[in-house]
Amino acid sequence: MQSPRTRIVEVLQLQPPCAEVRVKGWLRTVRDSKQVVFLELNDGSSMGILQVVVDPSLPNIEDVRRLTTGSAVGVRGELVPSPAKGQTVELRATEVEIIGRAEADFPLQKKRHSFEFLRTIAHLRNRTNTYGAVFRVRSKLAHAIHCFFQDRGFVYVHTPIITASDAEGAGEMFRVTTLDPAAPPKTPEGRIDWDADFFARQAYLTVSGQLNGETFAIGMGDIYTFGPTFRAENSNTSRHVAEFWMIEPEMAFFDLDDNCTLAEAFVKHLLRTLLEDCAEDVAFFDERIDKGLTARLRHVLESPFERMPYAEAVKRLEASGQSFEYPVFFGANLQAEHERFLTETIIGRPVFVTDYPKEIKAFYMRRNDDGRTVAAVDLLVPQVGELIGGSQREERYDVLLQALEETGLSPQSYAWYLDTRRYGTVPHAGFGLGFERLIMYATGMQNIRDVIPFPRTPRHCEF
Ligand code: 4AD
Ligand code: MG
Repeated sequence: MQSPRTRIVEVLQLQPPCAEVRVKGWLRTVRDSKQVVFLELNDGSSMGILQVVVDPSLPNIEDVRRLTTGSAVGVRGELVPSPAKGQTVELRATEVEIIGRAEADFPLQKKRHSFEFLRTIAHLRNRTNTYGAVFRVRSKLAHAIHCFFQDRGFVYVHTPIITASDAEGAGEMFRVTTLDPAAPPKTPEGRIDWDADFFARQAYLTVSGQLNGETFAIGMGDIYTFGPTFRAENSNTSRHVAEFWMIEPEMAFFDLDDNCTLAEAFVKHLLRTLLEDCAEDVAFFDERIDKGLTARLRHVLESPFERMPYAEAVKRLEASGQSFEYPVFFGANLQAEHERFLTETIIGRPVFVTDYPKEIKAFYMRRNDDGRTVAAVDLLVPQVGELIGGSQREERYDVLLQALEETGLSPQSYAWYLDTRRYGTVPHAGFGLGFERLIMYATGMQNIRDVIPFPRTPRHCEF
Protein backbone atom coordinates (compact mmCIF):
# COMPACT_ATOMS: atom_id res chain seq x y z
CA MET A 1 0.00 0.00 0.00
CA GLN A 2 1.18 3.52 -0.79
CA SER A 3 1.89 5.81 2.11
CA PRO A 4 -1.11 8.03 2.75
CA ARG A 5 -1.15 11.54 1.42
CA THR A 6 -0.22 14.48 3.55
CA ARG A 7 -2.69 17.33 3.48
CA ILE A 8 -1.32 20.49 1.92
CA VAL A 9 -2.20 22.52 5.01
CA GLU A 10 0.35 20.34 6.86
CA VAL A 11 2.90 20.24 4.05
CA LEU A 12 3.09 24.03 4.12
CA GLN A 13 4.03 23.84 7.82
CA LEU A 14 6.96 21.47 7.24
CA GLN A 15 10.57 22.62 7.51
CA PRO A 16 12.25 21.84 4.18
CA PRO A 17 14.05 19.88 2.98
CA CYS A 18 11.79 16.84 3.39
CA ALA A 19 12.74 13.87 1.27
CA GLU A 20 9.51 12.03 0.69
CA VAL A 21 6.23 13.97 0.59
CA ARG A 22 3.04 12.69 -1.01
CA VAL A 23 0.11 14.96 -1.79
CA LYS A 24 -3.11 14.66 -3.73
CA GLY A 25 -5.39 17.41 -4.93
CA TRP A 26 -6.78 19.43 -7.80
CA LEU A 27 -4.83 21.71 -10.13
CA ARG A 28 -5.48 25.41 -9.96
CA THR A 29 -3.04 26.14 -12.82
CA VAL A 30 -0.63 24.39 -15.12
CA ARG A 31 2.28 26.40 -16.52
CA ASP A 32 4.64 24.90 -19.09
CA SER A 33 7.95 26.77 -19.20
CA LYS A 34 9.75 24.37 -21.58
CA GLN A 35 12.46 23.40 -19.06
CA VAL A 36 9.98 22.45 -16.35
CA VAL A 37 6.25 22.31 -15.77
CA PHE A 38 4.77 24.18 -12.79
CA LEU A 39 1.61 22.85 -11.20
CA GLU A 40 -0.34 24.75 -8.55
CA LEU A 41 -2.10 22.26 -6.33
CA ASN A 42 -4.88 22.76 -3.77
CA ASP A 43 -6.60 20.01 -1.81
CA GLY A 44 -9.25 21.95 0.10
CA SER A 45 -7.49 21.53 3.44
CA SER A 46 -6.71 25.25 3.50
CA MET A 47 -6.39 28.24 1.25
CA GLY A 48 -2.81 27.11 0.61
CA ILE A 49 -1.46 26.29 -2.83
CA LEU A 50 1.50 23.96 -3.15
CA GLN A 51 3.77 24.72 -6.07
CA VAL A 52 4.92 21.54 -7.78
CA VAL A 53 7.91 21.60 -10.12
CA VAL A 54 7.99 18.78 -12.66
CA ASP A 55 11.28 17.97 -14.37
CA PRO A 56 11.10 17.02 -18.09
CA SER A 57 13.02 13.83 -17.31
CA LEU A 58 9.88 12.28 -15.77
CA PRO A 59 8.66 9.41 -17.95
CA ASN A 60 5.08 10.75 -18.26
CA ILE A 61 6.11 14.39 -18.78
CA GLU A 62 4.12 14.69 -22.02
CA ASP A 63 0.94 13.68 -20.19
CA VAL A 64 1.76 16.13 -17.41
CA ARG A 65 2.20 18.94 -19.95
CA ARG A 66 -1.31 18.27 -21.25
CA LEU A 67 -2.89 18.49 -17.77
CA THR A 68 -5.65 21.04 -17.41
CA THR A 69 -6.97 23.19 -14.58
CA GLY A 70 -9.30 21.21 -12.35
CA SER A 71 -7.61 17.84 -12.93
CA ALA A 72 -6.86 15.63 -9.93
CA VAL A 73 -3.28 14.47 -9.45
CA GLY A 74 -1.09 12.78 -6.87
CA VAL A 75 2.49 13.93 -6.50
CA ARG A 76 5.45 12.38 -4.72
CA GLY A 77 8.61 14.38 -4.31
CA GLU A 78 11.03 16.36 -2.20
CA LEU A 79 9.91 19.51 -0.43
CA VAL A 80 12.58 22.21 -0.82
CA PRO A 81 12.81 25.94 -0.12
CA SER A 82 11.50 27.79 -3.16
CA PRO A 83 13.99 30.01 -4.99
CA ALA A 84 11.20 31.99 -6.62
CA LYS A 85 8.98 34.48 -4.90
CA GLY A 86 5.32 33.79 -4.26
CA GLN A 87 5.87 30.76 -2.05
CA THR A 88 8.40 29.65 0.56
CA VAL A 89 8.50 25.97 -0.39
CA GLU A 90 7.95 23.90 -3.49
CA LEU A 91 7.64 20.22 -4.24
CA ARG A 92 10.19 18.78 -6.71
CA ALA A 93 8.19 15.94 -8.22
CA THR A 94 9.73 12.52 -8.64
CA GLU A 95 6.37 11.07 -9.65
CA VAL A 96 3.12 12.60 -10.90
CA GLU A 97 0.10 10.35 -10.97
CA ILE A 98 -2.78 11.57 -13.09
CA ILE A 99 -5.86 10.56 -11.13
CA GLY A 100 -8.73 12.30 -12.92
CA ARG A 101 -8.44 14.66 -15.84
CA ALA A 102 -10.70 17.70 -16.05
CA GLU A 103 -12.20 18.21 -19.46
CA ALA A 104 -11.23 21.37 -21.26
CA ASP A 105 -14.53 23.12 -20.50
CA PHE A 106 -13.97 23.02 -16.71
CA PRO A 107 -15.76 26.22 -15.74
CA LEU A 108 -13.40 27.46 -13.01
CA GLN A 109 -10.53 29.13 -14.78
CA LYS A 110 -7.98 31.34 -13.08
CA LYS A 111 -9.92 34.58 -13.04
CA ARG A 112 -12.49 36.19 -10.81
CA HIS A 113 -15.92 34.70 -11.25
CA SER A 114 -19.01 36.45 -9.91
CA PHE A 115 -20.88 34.84 -7.00
CA GLU A 116 -23.98 34.80 -9.22
CA PHE A 117 -22.16 32.67 -11.77
CA LEU A 118 -20.66 30.41 -9.10
CA ARG A 119 -24.13 29.74 -7.68
CA THR A 120 -25.00 28.12 -11.00
CA ILE A 121 -22.18 25.63 -10.43
CA ALA A 122 -22.71 25.03 -6.73
CA HIS A 123 -21.37 21.49 -7.18
CA LEU A 124 -17.95 22.86 -8.18
CA ARG A 125 -17.69 26.12 -6.29
CA ASN A 126 -16.11 24.60 -3.16
CA ARG A 127 -12.94 24.47 -5.29
CA THR A 128 -12.58 28.24 -5.21
CA ASN A 129 -10.77 30.19 -2.49
CA THR A 130 -13.88 31.99 -1.27
CA TYR A 131 -16.20 29.01 -1.00
CA GLY A 132 -13.47 26.74 0.34
CA ALA A 133 -12.98 29.27 3.13
CA VAL A 134 -16.73 29.64 3.75
CA PHE A 135 -17.25 25.92 4.12
CA ARG A 136 -14.21 25.40 6.33
CA VAL A 137 -15.51 28.17 8.60
CA ARG A 138 -18.96 26.59 8.54
CA SER A 139 -17.53 23.25 9.61
CA LYS A 140 -15.42 24.73 12.41
CA LEU A 141 -18.32 26.75 13.77
CA ALA A 142 -20.60 23.71 13.74
CA HIS A 143 -18.05 21.95 15.91
CA ALA A 144 -17.67 24.99 18.17
CA ILE A 145 -21.44 25.02 18.71
CA HIS A 146 -21.42 21.48 20.03
CA CYS A 147 -18.37 22.23 22.21
CA PHE A 148 -20.04 25.28 23.73
CA PHE A 149 -23.13 23.38 24.84
CA GLN A 150 -21.47 20.09 25.69
CA ASP A 151 -18.92 21.88 27.89
CA ARG A 152 -21.84 23.42 29.75
CA GLY A 153 -23.64 20.12 30.30
CA PHE A 154 -26.41 20.62 27.75
CA VAL A 155 -28.04 17.54 26.21
CA TYR A 156 -28.18 17.40 22.41
CA VAL A 157 -31.71 16.44 21.38
CA HIS A 158 -32.62 15.31 17.87
CA THR A 159 -36.02 16.83 17.34
CA PRO A 160 -38.13 15.52 14.45
CA ILE A 161 -37.97 16.92 10.94
CA ILE A 162 -41.44 15.70 10.00
CA THR A 163 -44.11 17.18 12.22
CA ALA A 164 -47.84 17.74 12.47
CA SER A 165 -47.62 21.05 14.33
CA ASP A 166 -46.69 24.53 13.26
CA ALA A 167 -44.11 25.58 15.86
CA GLU A 168 -44.27 29.26 14.91
CA GLY A 169 -47.98 29.34 14.16
CA ALA A 170 -47.17 31.29 11.01
CA GLY A 171 -48.43 28.79 8.44
CA GLU A 172 -45.26 28.68 6.37
CA MET A 173 -44.79 24.94 6.18
CA PHE A 174 -43.96 22.51 3.39
CA ARG A 175 -46.37 19.63 3.19
CA VAL A 176 -45.15 16.03 3.50
CA THR A 177 -47.46 13.54 1.82
CA THR A 178 -47.48 10.29 -0.13
CA LEU A 179 -50.88 10.96 -1.68
CA ASP A 180 -51.09 11.21 -5.44
CA PRO A 181 -51.61 14.92 -6.15
CA ALA A 182 -53.47 14.07 -9.36
CA ALA A 183 -56.00 11.81 -7.67
CA PRO A 184 -56.08 12.25 -3.89
CA PRO A 185 -58.60 10.14 -1.97
CA LYS A 186 -61.68 12.14 -1.01
CA THR A 187 -64.02 12.12 1.96
CA PRO A 188 -67.76 11.81 1.35
CA GLU A 189 -67.91 15.61 1.61
CA GLY A 190 -65.41 15.90 -1.25
CA ARG A 191 -62.44 17.07 0.79
CA ILE A 192 -59.00 15.45 0.63
CA ASP A 193 -59.03 12.43 2.92
CA TRP A 194 -55.90 12.96 4.99
CA ASP A 195 -56.78 9.89 6.99
CA ALA A 196 -55.63 7.92 3.94
CA ASP A 197 -52.26 9.69 3.92
CA PHE A 198 -49.06 8.14 5.30
CA PHE A 199 -49.44 9.51 8.83
CA ALA A 200 -53.24 9.45 8.77
CA ARG A 201 -53.13 13.21 9.23
CA GLN A 202 -51.57 16.24 7.62
CA ALA A 203 -47.81 16.43 8.07
CA TYR A 204 -45.15 19.01 7.30
CA LEU A 205 -41.44 19.73 7.42
CA THR A 206 -40.66 21.45 10.69
CA VAL A 207 -40.09 25.20 10.93
CA SER A 208 -38.39 24.80 14.32
CA GLY A 209 -37.51 22.10 16.83
CA GLN A 210 -38.48 24.32 19.71
CA LEU A 211 -41.74 22.79 20.89
CA ASN A 212 -40.23 19.31 21.05
CA GLY A 213 -37.11 20.84 22.58
CA GLU A 214 -39.18 22.43 25.34
CA THR A 215 -40.59 19.08 26.37
CA PHE A 216 -37.03 17.84 26.87
CA ALA A 217 -35.94 20.95 28.80
CA ILE A 218 -38.87 20.30 31.14
CA GLY A 219 -37.32 17.12 32.43
CA MET A 220 -33.69 17.19 31.33
CA GLY A 221 -32.93 20.80 32.23
CA ASP A 222 -30.66 22.30 29.59
CA ILE A 223 -30.90 20.99 26.05
CA TYR A 224 -30.11 22.12 22.52
CA THR A 225 -31.03 21.13 19.01
CA PHE A 226 -28.99 21.72 15.88
CA GLY A 227 -30.69 20.66 12.70
CA PRO A 228 -32.31 21.65 9.45
CA THR A 229 -35.52 23.67 9.43
CA PHE A 230 -37.80 24.60 6.57
CA ARG A 231 -39.84 27.68 5.76
CA ALA A 232 -42.15 28.00 2.80
CA GLU A 233 -42.07 31.79 2.95
CA ASN A 234 -41.89 33.30 -0.47
CA SER A 235 -39.19 35.83 0.37
CA ASN A 236 -36.47 36.42 -2.16
CA THR A 237 -34.05 38.31 0.05
CA SER A 238 -30.33 37.90 0.59
CA ARG A 239 -31.06 36.66 4.15
CA HIS A 240 -33.74 34.01 3.63
CA VAL A 241 -33.57 30.45 2.38
CA ALA A 242 -36.28 27.80 2.42
CA GLU A 243 -34.00 25.27 4.12
CA PHE A 244 -31.62 26.45 6.81
CA TRP A 245 -29.93 25.15 9.93
CA MET A 246 -30.88 26.38 13.34
CA ILE A 247 -29.40 25.96 16.80
CA GLU A 248 -32.07 26.02 19.49
CA PRO A 249 -31.07 25.81 23.15
CA GLU A 250 -33.84 25.57 25.71
CA MET A 251 -33.19 26.09 29.42
CA ALA A 252 -35.40 25.17 32.37
CA PHE A 253 -35.54 27.76 35.19
CA PHE A 254 -34.29 30.53 32.86
CA ASP A 255 -35.92 33.92 32.44
CA LEU A 256 -35.51 36.35 29.56
CA ASP A 257 -32.45 37.97 31.09
CA ASP A 258 -30.69 34.63 31.61
CA ASN A 259 -31.55 33.83 28.00
CA CYS A 260 -29.81 36.98 26.74
CA THR A 261 -26.77 36.33 28.91
CA LEU A 262 -26.38 32.83 27.48
CA ALA A 263 -26.94 34.03 23.89
CA GLU A 264 -24.24 36.67 24.30
CA ALA A 265 -21.74 34.16 25.70
CA PHE A 266 -22.64 31.78 22.87
CA VAL A 267 -22.12 34.28 20.05
CA LYS A 268 -18.87 35.50 21.62
CA HIS A 269 -17.60 31.96 22.02
CA LEU A 270 -18.22 31.32 18.33
CA LEU A 271 -16.50 34.52 17.23
CA ARG A 272 -13.52 33.78 19.48
CA THR A 273 -13.20 30.30 18.01
CA LEU A 274 -13.44 31.77 14.54
CA LEU A 275 -10.60 34.22 15.15
CA GLU A 276 -8.44 31.57 16.78
CA ASP A 277 -9.08 28.54 14.59
CA CYS A 278 -9.84 30.05 11.19
CA ALA A 279 -7.22 32.82 11.12
CA GLU A 280 -6.12 32.25 7.53
CA ASP A 281 -9.65 32.15 6.16
CA VAL A 282 -10.71 35.18 8.20
CA ALA A 283 -7.68 37.11 6.90
CA PHE A 284 -8.81 36.23 3.39
CA PHE A 285 -12.35 37.51 4.04
CA ASP A 286 -10.93 40.65 5.58
CA GLU A 287 -8.81 41.34 2.52
CA ARG A 288 -11.11 40.24 -0.28
CA ILE A 289 -14.70 40.27 0.92
CA ASP A 290 -15.23 42.67 3.80
CA LYS A 291 -12.47 45.13 4.71
CA GLY A 292 -12.19 45.58 8.47
CA LEU A 293 -13.92 42.30 9.32
CA THR A 294 -11.34 41.21 11.91
CA ALA A 295 -11.31 44.54 13.70
CA ARG A 296 -15.08 44.59 13.79
CA LEU A 297 -15.33 41.08 15.19
CA ARG A 298 -12.70 41.91 17.82
CA HIS A 299 -14.66 44.99 18.78
CA VAL A 300 -17.80 42.88 19.16
CA LEU A 301 -15.92 40.44 21.38
CA GLU A 302 -14.84 43.24 23.67
CA SER A 303 -18.14 45.11 23.96
CA PRO A 304 -21.12 44.16 26.05
CA PHE A 305 -24.22 43.68 23.89
CA GLU A 306 -26.91 46.32 24.42
CA ARG A 307 -30.32 45.34 25.80
CA MET A 308 -33.31 47.48 24.94
CA PRO A 309 -37.09 47.03 25.09
CA TYR A 310 -38.90 47.19 21.77
CA ALA A 311 -40.80 50.31 22.90
CA GLU A 312 -37.53 52.16 23.37
CA ALA A 313 -36.11 50.86 20.09
CA VAL A 314 -39.16 52.23 18.29
CA LYS A 315 -38.75 55.61 20.04
CA ARG A 316 -35.08 55.79 19.09
CA LEU A 317 -35.89 54.91 15.48
CA GLU A 318 -38.66 57.51 15.34
CA ALA A 319 -36.39 60.14 16.88
CA SER A 320 -33.55 59.36 14.47
CA GLY A 321 -35.06 61.43 11.68
CA GLN A 322 -34.05 58.68 9.26
CA SER A 323 -36.56 58.10 6.48
CA PHE A 324 -37.50 54.46 6.10
CA GLU A 325 -39.38 52.66 3.38
CA TYR A 326 -41.69 51.09 5.98
CA PRO A 327 -43.19 53.21 8.76
CA VAL A 328 -42.04 52.57 12.31
CA PHE A 329 -44.45 52.88 15.25
CA PHE A 330 -45.32 50.89 18.37
CA GLY A 331 -46.92 47.72 17.03
CA ALA A 332 -44.98 47.67 13.75
CA ASN A 333 -42.99 44.62 12.78
CA LEU A 334 -39.41 45.84 12.62
CA GLN A 335 -38.16 45.49 9.05
CA ALA A 336 -34.59 44.69 8.05
CA GLU A 337 -33.94 48.39 7.38
CA HIS A 338 -35.03 49.30 10.93
CA GLU A 339 -33.09 46.47 12.50
CA ARG A 340 -29.91 47.36 10.69
CA PHE A 341 -30.20 51.08 11.36
CA LEU A 342 -30.68 50.36 15.04
CA THR A 343 -27.71 48.04 15.45
CA GLU A 344 -25.36 49.70 12.94
CA THR A 345 -26.03 53.39 13.36
CA ILE A 346 -27.85 54.02 16.65
CA ILE A 347 -26.05 51.43 18.80
CA GLY A 348 -22.98 50.45 16.77
CA ARG A 349 -22.82 46.89 18.09
CA PRO A 350 -25.13 43.94 18.69
CA VAL A 351 -28.35 44.73 20.51
CA PHE A 352 -30.99 42.54 22.16
CA VAL A 353 -34.43 44.00 21.52
CA THR A 354 -36.88 42.63 24.07
CA ASP A 355 -40.56 42.74 25.02
CA TYR A 356 -42.32 43.02 21.66
CA PRO A 357 -46.06 43.65 21.26
CA LYS A 358 -47.81 40.30 21.58
CA GLU A 359 -49.61 40.68 18.25
CA ILE A 360 -46.43 40.40 16.22
CA LYS A 361 -44.86 37.45 18.05
CA ALA A 362 -45.50 33.72 18.36
CA PHE A 363 -48.16 32.20 20.63
CA TYR A 364 -45.68 30.45 22.96
CA MET A 365 -44.00 33.62 24.27
CA ARG A 366 -44.66 34.56 27.86
CA ARG A 367 -47.19 37.35 28.36
CA ASN A 368 -45.79 40.28 30.32
CA ASP A 369 -47.73 41.87 33.17
CA ASP A 370 -48.42 45.00 31.07
CA GLY A 371 -50.90 42.88 29.08
CA ARG A 372 -49.66 44.08 25.74
CA THR A 373 -46.10 42.76 25.34
CA VAL A 374 -44.44 39.35 25.52
CA ALA A 375 -41.03 38.31 26.85
CA ALA A 376 -39.53 38.02 23.37
CA VAL A 377 -35.99 38.76 22.33
CA ASP A 378 -34.30 39.30 18.98
CA LEU A 379 -30.56 39.74 18.72
CA LEU A 380 -29.74 42.22 15.98
CA VAL A 381 -26.20 42.49 14.67
CA PRO A 382 -24.54 44.88 12.20
CA GLN A 383 -24.50 43.77 8.53
CA VAL A 384 -26.95 40.94 9.08
CA GLY A 385 -29.86 42.22 11.16
CA GLU A 386 -31.71 39.47 13.05
CA LEU A 387 -29.32 36.71 14.06
CA ILE A 388 -31.30 35.22 16.93
CA GLY A 389 -34.97 35.04 17.84
CA GLY A 390 -36.11 33.71 21.19
CA SER A 391 -38.20 34.25 24.28
CA GLN A 392 -39.14 33.22 27.74
CA ARG A 393 -41.92 30.67 27.23
CA GLU A 394 -45.46 30.83 28.52
CA GLU A 395 -45.35 28.26 31.31
CA ARG A 396 -48.88 28.98 32.67
CA TYR A 397 -51.38 26.50 31.28
CA ASP A 398 -54.38 28.81 31.11
CA VAL A 399 -52.52 31.67 29.53
CA LEU A 400 -50.93 29.37 26.94
CA LEU A 401 -54.27 27.79 26.08
CA GLN A 402 -55.77 31.20 25.53
CA ALA A 403 -52.85 32.29 23.34
CA LEU A 404 -53.26 29.18 21.18
CA GLU A 405 -56.93 29.87 20.74
CA GLU A 406 -56.34 33.52 19.92
CA THR A 407 -53.86 32.45 17.22
CA GLY A 408 -56.48 30.13 15.74
CA LEU A 409 -54.48 26.98 16.49
CA SER A 410 -56.32 23.92 17.71
CA PRO A 411 -55.49 23.04 21.33
CA GLN A 412 -56.09 19.34 20.52
CA SER A 413 -53.17 19.36 18.09
CA TYR A 414 -50.95 20.86 20.78
CA ALA A 415 -52.23 18.64 23.61
CA TRP A 416 -48.79 17.07 24.13
CA TYR A 417 -47.22 20.52 24.33
CA LEU A 418 -49.86 21.71 26.77
CA ASP A 419 -49.23 18.61 28.91
CA THR A 420 -45.82 19.97 29.90
CA ARG A 421 -47.72 22.86 31.53
CA ARG A 422 -49.86 20.39 33.45
CA TYR A 423 -47.15 18.11 34.77
CA GLY A 424 -44.47 20.03 36.61
CA THR A 425 -44.35 23.21 34.58
CA VAL A 426 -41.44 25.58 35.22
CA PRO A 427 -40.32 28.95 33.93
CA HIS A 428 -38.06 28.36 30.94
CA ALA A 429 -36.58 30.16 27.98
CA GLY A 430 -34.69 29.54 24.79
CA PHE A 431 -33.67 30.96 21.47
CA GLY A 432 -32.91 30.01 17.88
CA LEU A 433 -29.77 31.11 16.08
CA GLY A 434 -29.85 30.91 12.29
CA PHE A 435 -26.62 29.15 11.37
CA GLU A 436 -26.38 30.70 7.91
CA ARG A 437 -26.89 34.18 9.33
CA LEU A 438 -24.02 33.46 11.70
CA ILE A 439 -21.76 32.42 8.82
CA MET A 440 -22.66 35.63 6.99
CA TYR A 441 -21.74 37.62 10.07
CA ALA A 442 -18.51 35.67 10.56
CA THR A 443 -17.30 35.95 6.97
CA GLY A 444 -18.78 39.20 5.67
CA MET A 445 -20.48 37.28 2.84
CA GLN A 446 -23.52 39.28 1.81
CA ASN A 447 -25.82 36.67 0.35
CA ILE A 448 -27.13 33.72 2.32
CA ARG A 449 -27.00 31.60 -0.87
CA ASP A 450 -23.22 31.78 -0.61
CA VAL A 451 -22.88 30.32 2.88
CA ILE A 452 -24.94 27.12 2.56
CA PRO A 453 -23.59 24.37 0.30
CA PHE A 454 -26.71 23.94 -1.84
CA PRO A 455 -29.22 26.74 -1.26
CA ARG A 456 -32.96 26.17 -1.57
CA THR A 457 -34.96 29.28 -2.42
CA PRO A 458 -38.25 29.90 -4.24
CA ARG A 459 -38.00 28.27 -7.68
CA HIS A 460 -34.51 26.93 -6.95
CA CYS A 461 -33.91 23.33 -5.94
CA GLU A 462 -31.12 22.25 -8.25
CA PHE A 463 -28.24 20.04 -7.12
O1 4AD B 1 -36.99 34.02 14.82
P1 4AD B 1 -37.26 32.61 14.41
O2 4AD B 1 -38.38 32.35 13.49
O3 4AD B 1 -37.44 31.82 15.78
C1 4AD B 1 -37.78 30.50 15.91
O4 4AD B 1 -37.89 29.71 15.02
C2 4AD B 1 -37.86 30.07 17.34
N1 4AD B 1 -38.61 28.81 17.39
C3 4AD B 1 -36.50 29.93 17.91
C4 4AD B 1 -36.50 29.53 19.37
O5 4AD B 1 -36.84 30.34 20.20
N2 4AD B 1 -36.12 28.31 19.68
O6 4AD B 1 -35.94 31.98 13.78
C5 4AD B 1 -34.74 31.97 14.49
C6 4AD B 1 -33.59 32.42 13.63
C7 4AD B 1 -33.73 33.82 13.09
O7 4AD B 1 -33.31 34.76 14.04
C8 4AD B 1 -32.82 33.77 11.89
O8 4AD B 1 -31.46 33.90 12.27
C9 4AD B 1 -33.03 32.37 11.38
O9 4AD B 1 -33.51 31.60 12.45
N3 4AD B 1 -33.99 32.32 10.27
C10 4AD B 1 -33.67 32.12 8.99
N4 4AD B 1 -32.48 31.96 8.40
C11 4AD B 1 -32.48 31.78 7.08
N5 4AD B 1 -33.57 31.74 6.31
C12 4AD B 1 -34.80 31.89 6.85
N6 4AD B 1 -35.89 31.83 6.08
C13 4AD B 1 -34.88 32.09 8.26
N7 4AD B 1 -35.90 32.28 9.12
C14 4AD B 1 -35.35 32.39 10.34
MG1 MG C 1 -37.57 35.91 14.27
